[in-house]
Amino acid sequence: MAKRIDVSGLSAYYGSFRAIEDISMTIEPRTVTAFIGPSGCGKSTFLRTLNRMHEVTSGGRVEGKVMLDDENLYGAGVDPVAVRREIGMVFQRPNPFPTMSVYENVVAGLKLNGKFKKSELDDTVEKSLKGANLWNEVKDRLNKPGSGLSGGQQQRLCIARAIAVEPKVLLMDEPCSALDPISTLAIEDLIGELKERFTIVIVTHNMQQAARVSDRTAFFNLAAVGQPGKLIEIDDTERIFSNPSVQATEDYISGRFG
Ligand SMILES: Nc1ncnc2c1ncn2[C@@H]1O[C@H](COP(=O)(O)OP(=O)(O)O)[C@@H](O)[C@H]1O
Ligand SMILES: [Mg+2]
Repeated sequence: MAKRIDVSGLSAYYGSFRAIEDISMTIEPRTVTAFIGPSGCGKSTFLRTLNRMHEVTSGGRVEGKVMLDDENLYGAGVDPVAVRREIGMVFQRPNPFPTMSVYENVVAGLKLNGKFKKSELDDTVEKSLKGANLWNEVKDRLNKPGSGLSGGQQQRLCIARAIAVEPKVLLMDEPCSALDPISTLAIEDLIGELKERFTIVIVTHNMQQAARVSDRTAFFNLAAVGQPGKLIEIDDTERIFSNPSVQATEDYISGRFG
């Protein structure tokens, strides 16, 4: 199958500290890939290299290549802002724009991209909120502040905002770790629906969640604190959780460390 993302020889630095080393992997379209591994092994750093957010951190630097379809995202002349439109991000803490209404939050990314008719914006808001399984809960309060929603609703609002610009890829960094179990299940269900339309990469520290939502699982590890994180293996989720190739993966998923 065609690859959506093809990473080769990727290392990322904070100043002189190499946080991740020589990572290569491919990700197919319309799949969910889970990143797992102990704290500090570079999952978030690697995720942020996939949409050129790593370099926003001071001292942040990347070596290697990330292909999105036929385009090298680190090629000369590539606009990082355009990359982030094609590869959206959802963060650990829901971060709706606090002074904006639900409606304005959803179209926030679109408005930056040009002029739209009110009717087009209305359609996008409805479609995106439906896509995020939030429409029924907020359709009567579109003009109320987004920050007035519950935590789980705010996270789905952030997902609606991310999908409103029709990205190819959605990156999610522990999107449920600030949520209660019911809201977490709502997001997991939503991920199952969104993968029909988007390619999804999710960082999670929850093994059950990785097993439930993902098709492929990548295990990252680091030899010691201060050493760079590495990709240990990536395989079908079923295989990673039943018969991984590497002992450290087995030890991690069975809770022996991390
Ligand atoms: N802004 C930063 N500046 C310097 N070092 C950082 C920064 N963010 C993360 N790191 C370091 O990079 C390594 C990987 O961190 P991170 O990607 O957050 O790991 P994970 O998400 O797997 O917990 C860690 O050693 C961490 O301390
Ligand atoms: Mg992290």
